[in-house]
Amino acid sequence: MTIMNDNKILVTGATGYVGGRLVPRLLSDGYRVKAIGRSMAKLKGRPWASHPNLELARSDVHDHASIRKALKDCSVAFYLVHSMNPEHKDFVGSDRKAANIFKDAANKSHLKRIIYLGGLGGDKPHASMHLKSREEVGRVLQSSRVPSTIFRSAHILGSGSASFEILRYMAERLPVMIVPSDVIDTKIQPMPWGTVFPNVLKPSGVFSFLIAASFNAPAHNMMEYPRRLREADKCLSEVIMA
Ligand SMILES: NC(=O)c1ccc[n+]([C@@H]2O[C@H](COP(=O)([O-])OP(=O)(O)OC[C@H]3O[C@@H](n4cnc5c(N)ncnc54)[C@H](OP(=O)(O)O)[C@@H]3O)[C@@H](O)[C@H]2O)c1
Repeated sequence: MTIMNDNKILVTGATGYVGGRLVPRLLSDGYRVKAIGRSMAKLKGRPWASHPNLELARSDVHDHASIRKALKDCSVAFYLVHSMNPEHKDFVGSDRKAANIFKDAANKSHLKRIIYLGGLGGDKPHASMHLKSREEVGRVLQSSRVPSTIFRSAHILGSGSASFEILRYMAERLPVMIVPSDVIDTKIQPMPWGTVFPNVLKPSGVFSFLIAASFNAPAHNMMEYPRRLREADKCLSEVIMA
């Protein structure tokens, strides 16, 4: 099944790193988009906010009524929300609650597809709380009656991406770091944003194979964390400063 351009696409997390870059790409591919977020001021401040094919709406994924309203006239929804920020002490519980609310609202809507981008390795026993939580959110969404496509990707390298900014901050500020041994041995597969969109989220690719499935994003350069840190400066040049 192919989603036609006249179907409206909901982008949650539109004020975030991935959502904020996805919205203009969908618009430039001719889709009608509804971008939602908790702050209208933040949404209106985006450079793409006045596009004629775009609708902005205030919505909180912890608020069932606002999510139901947001989903009302949409065929496809990108779920790009996470609560890993100082605002939430229990981000695992918060993300679980939000995913369940979204699933319940989706079940009562006319949505044809949920598309979620999670992280790689959350099914491994020693995965971090963050990755386990990302995996759990994917499972919750997959338990919806609405078919879902789950993508998993590693760190996205790009200015503004939280994981990239943390890495950049550490590489630039700290001459010496004490790093736990499990982190030293952890292998990661970072990918630039420029690779995520065409290879992972590109609408023509996504919508032409609308099957319920999970995909790990193809990544290159598997490396250990310390090497990643050493190469962080080099990374800056390969990043798309979008
Ligand atoms: N960035 C990466 O390196 C990376 C790598 C792999 C996978 N991913 C996945 O990509 C997705 C998006 O990540 P990101 O890096 O774009 O995250 P981000 O920049 O931190 O953005 C998170 C978004 O979630 C929204 N949000 C948080 N709580 C909300 C709530 N209660 N109601 C509505 N919206 C809420 C935030 O809105 P506010 O502006 O209101 O806070 C923000 O738009 C996640 O599923 C993540 O696992 C990201």
